[in-house]
Amino acid sequence: MSSDKKFKLDGKDIPFHDGDTIMDAVLRAGEYIPHLCHNPEFKPNGSCRVCVVDVDGRHMSACTLPAAKNMEVDNSSEVILDQRRSLLQMLFVEGNHICPACEKSGACQLQAVAYYTRMLSPHFTHFFPRRSIDASHPDIIFYFNRCILCGLCERASRDVDGKNVFSISGRGINSKLVFNSPTGKLGDSALSATDKAVSVCPVGAILPKHKGYEDPIGERLYDTKPISVVGDVAANHSANDSSRNGD
Ligand code: SF4
Ligand code: FES
Repeated sequence: MSSDKKFKLDGKDIPFHDGDTIMDAVLRAGEYIPHLCHNPEFKPNGSCRVCVVDVDGRHMSACTLPAAKNMEVDNSSEVILDQRRSLLQMLFVEGNHICPACEKSGACQLQAVAYYTRMLSPHFTHFFPRRSIDASHPDIIFYFNRCILCGLCERASRDVDGKNVFSISGRGINSKLVFNSPTGKLGDSALSATDKAVSVCPVGAILPKHKGYEDPIGERLYDTKPISVVGDVAANHSANDSSRNGD
């Protein structure tokens, strides 16, 4: 018996369950809506807006909007693609995302989503912020320049690791990630290299030490297939680690 709980994504029927967001239903159906602050393993927080879609004439974030019957969702018009590109361009100029010098290149969701949306230039003037690096942890290095404040490490540390190591402090342009430790240094926090929070970062802000550039060019996560096919970094991170360890 076929369910009548469906909406249209670019003209295609997408079935949904009670409680689904548009993103939940679309990902389950094997379709793709670009996203950065969303990870299917965590409650959405709707901060990056890269998942913007047109729903019956209104621009909404797909990761937070509950699915409803007979919605018409536009995920691919030039207007929507343009809006996503502008958001990505703002993220690129607000931090220092120098892809050729970043070891996350090829496995970075920001870079992969920019390729997917055919972003060809940063368009806006670069801020070139001078933010620090925290290398105080024995196994993890943190680049403040690359953090896009998606909040995934905060949610993972709180909800999965039970540690609350990360939180976003301040508002607007003054927002920044802070570490919960007596000195404010990552090395004095309770973070471990095996924590979920370490594997969820969609960019190269949280990186493990001692294994930089381990995956050669051509074999990195998004080197051969686009993010619309490969999916999220966190799920693949675990898979890659398992295969590397021979699990
Ligand atoms: Fe998101 Fe990474 Fe910044 Fe954490 S460090 S808020 S996961 S970009
Ligand atoms: Fe929906 Fe970031 S993925 S707002």
